[in-house]
Amino acid sequence: MNLLAKLPRSKRNVSQRAEAKSPDVIAASREFGELYFDGPRSYGYGGYRYDGRWIPVAEDIVAHFGLRAGDRVLDVGCAKGFLVKDLMKVCPGLEAFGLDISEYALKHCEPEIIGRLHLGNATSLPFPDGSFKAVISLNTLHNLDRSEVITALREVERLAPGRGFVQVDSYRTAEEKALFEEWVLTANFHDFPEGWEQVFKEAGYTGDYYWTIVE
Ligand SMILES: C[S@@+](CC[C@H](N)C(=O)[O-])C[C@H]1O[C@@H](n2cnc3c(N)ncnc32)[C@H](O)[C@@H]1O
Repeated sequence: MNLLAKLPRSKRNVSQRAEAKSPDVIAASREFGELYFDGPRSYGYGGYRYDGRWIPVAEDIVAHFGLRAGDRVLDVGCAKGFLVKDLMKVCPGLEAFGLDISEYALKHCEPEIIGRLHLGNATSLPFPDGSFKAVISLNTLHNLDRSEVITALREVERLAPGRGFVQVDSYRTAEEKALFEEWVLTANFHDFPEGWEQVFKEAGYTGDYYWTIVE
């Protein structure tokens, strides 16, 4: 289930990233602060700015989950809240929220969604059981270690049983794995799809999922 099919592919210079990588760069990226979002590309995004690219993805998410005005949806690892903003734009009246571990991202969020983003950890979502129509987590859960990923997946399942969508880093071949390992900065746990499916099973996660693959 690829809900990000309409997201433009980001440009990646893998060899440049691999050359610039060091334990210090990795440690700084993993703080998810200014360097990661808005510093040089060697530390992360190289400038994380709203450009509307999530609008078609938001439309697909709304259609997939049948979201309507008044429904609540949560984006775990929302960063500056671009998807939260676009979900509300494409589905007026939708109650979209986000959660992220980065105080920097939340303090630099889009103005329309101030107050909708929570500071927190994906391993402990501060909301009641079954309180969301859907929970989404894109390119975030691989930043946890394996046991934390299981905890976080249980949290997604707890808030929206069978109505999650999780996208994580993966690779289908040894070549893709080698390329990914050159590129990766922040991921703590990554695996082939079968390894991820084992994790989903262990967690009792019954929602949908897809992979981000460096090609
Ligand atoms: C690669 S970014 C993805 C942002 C956005 N979801 C997207 O797909 O563009 C990863 C995000 O996960 C957040 N993050 C990392 N560890 C986290 C955790 N344990 N709990 C919640 N958010 C976390 C980071 O701060 C960052 O915003």
